[in-house]
Amino acid sequence: MKETQTTKMSDKPKFFGRRKGRVIHKAKSTLLEKLLPKLRISENTSLEKEQLFGAPVEKIYLEIGFGNGEHLAGQAKAHPEIGFIGAEVFQNGVANLLTLLTGIKEGTNIPEEITLTPDRVDNIRIYDDDIRLLFKKIPDAYLDRVFLLFPDPWPKKRHASRRFVNPENLKELSRIIKPHGLLRIATDHPVYKSWTLRQMHACPYFRWTAKCGKDWKEAPTDWIETKYQRKALREGRRPVFLDYERL
Ligand SMILES: C[S@@+](CC[C@H](N)C(=O)[O-])C[C@H]1O[C@@H](n2cnc3c(N)ncnc32)[C@H](O)[C@@H]1O
Repeated sequence: MKETQTTKMSDKPKFFGRRKGRVIHKAKSTLLEKLLPKLRISENTSLEKEQLFGAPVEKIYLEIGFGNGEHLAGQAKAHPEIGFIGAEVFQNGVANLLTLLTGIKEGTNIPEEITLTPDRVDNIRIYDDDIRLLFKKIPDAYLDRVFLLFPDPWPKKRHASRRFVNPENLKELSRIIKPHGLLRIATDHPVYKSWTLRQMHACPYFRWTAKCGKDWKEAPTDWIETKYQRKALREGRRPVFLDYERL
């Protein structure tokens, strides 16, 4: 991970990851230009559930740092009754999610009006910035579930303060997740695994639900594999899947 600090305003939390990667070609940049504004959560977007999704939703799930969007797109397709908020800073990842939702990729003839593929419901909204900025707007006990899958591990000790699992973010997560709601954290990094177990153990708001090794060494039944996870497996790292209940 490149260590660039991309925050412009001093009151914003510092973000150390990448916002842009390889050049985004025509199809994806058209999706970013034409479709993203329709799905984007911006400063003035109401988070009132029905207004946000344009229809009643039973529950709201948030995925933080959805990467290329495979897990988010797969979950949203499997659960049309649930509203999903996906947060991702990396523009190429956001563009990839839009490709998954529309089937429009390089070489596809881009139609005048961009629509979701016919087998999809319109149940994803996108926050294309640092989720910590949105935290402030999210009401108490708003979310039923939060996914934090393979967060950047920042394994060096001197970068530990950049790790997303930290007391400040856990406090915010405990505020916005409903009682008995779920926080799912996956990681393939040994340093991040022990860090997370320690941080979560010290956090009074969550309870680890695992009863035996299988519960955290094997993927949950509703799991959808991600590119990052496939890379980890290819390189011989075994992920762990840590489910915490909000008390
Ligand atoms: C290692 S990648 C994992 C991506 C994906 N979850 C997966 O499993 O393939 C971590 C992602 O989290 C995003 N990210 C990190 N901090 C974030 C934040 N504060 N808000 C939103 N996204 C964030 C990064 O941009 C990056 O794409």
